[in-house]
Amino acid sequence: MTTARIRTAVFISGGGSNMAALIEAARAPEYPAEIVLVVSDEPGAGGLEKARTAGVEACVIDRRAYPDRAAFDAALTQAAEDAGCEIICLAGFMRLLTPGFVEHWQDRLLNIHPSLLPKFKGLNTHARALAAGEAEHGCTVHLVRAEMDTGPIIEQAKVPVLADDTPETLAARVLAEEHRIYPLALARVLFR
Ligand code: GRF
Repeated sequence: MTTARIRTAVFISGGGSNMAALIEAARAPEYPAEIVLVVSDEPGAGGLEKARTAGVEACVIDRRAYPDRAAFDAALTQAAEDAGCEIICLAGFMRLLTPGFVEHWQDRLLNIHPSLLPKFKGLNTHARALAAGEAEHGCTVHLVRAEMDTGPIIEQAKVPVLADDTPETLAARVLAEEHRIYPLALARVLFR
């Protein structure tokens, strides 16, 4: 018996390495999601070309083209729904979404954050983890709620903080784990 794979959009703002990990995982025919759309709010995002090279439709929805956040978010929803998407993965998408958008996609909107939430919400997580003297750091995939970097946790991965770490070396160790857990987390959400 074959079951329909869930059409999925990935929203990015930058290089899109997490997006690429999701596209790669979804190549397996038994993976429960199919990545059919990539949306970037940044026209220059490197991930756009990566997506197209992988054969995935990619478009830009530029915040500057919309009068307010609600209109921008409505365009995001429209693009995802026009592509038949039932779930959205935020992967380095650097804009805060309106509560209306989050509610519309309730439990169908995932985010990856480079810290062990609830620690270190927001930006510069690696430098902050080092400054705090953490022995462990990591990353979290969670369902999105209106308040930034909150919501039910789906998957976390820990990495050790090493004595000679810089924010860059720590970020690289965490990013490798992000690539591993985001596909696991998306599959977990779809199987439950
Ligand atoms: C990742 O560390 C993600 O967790 C963070 O931004 C980075 C995006 O990297 N929010 P990429 O665009 O997936 O390469």
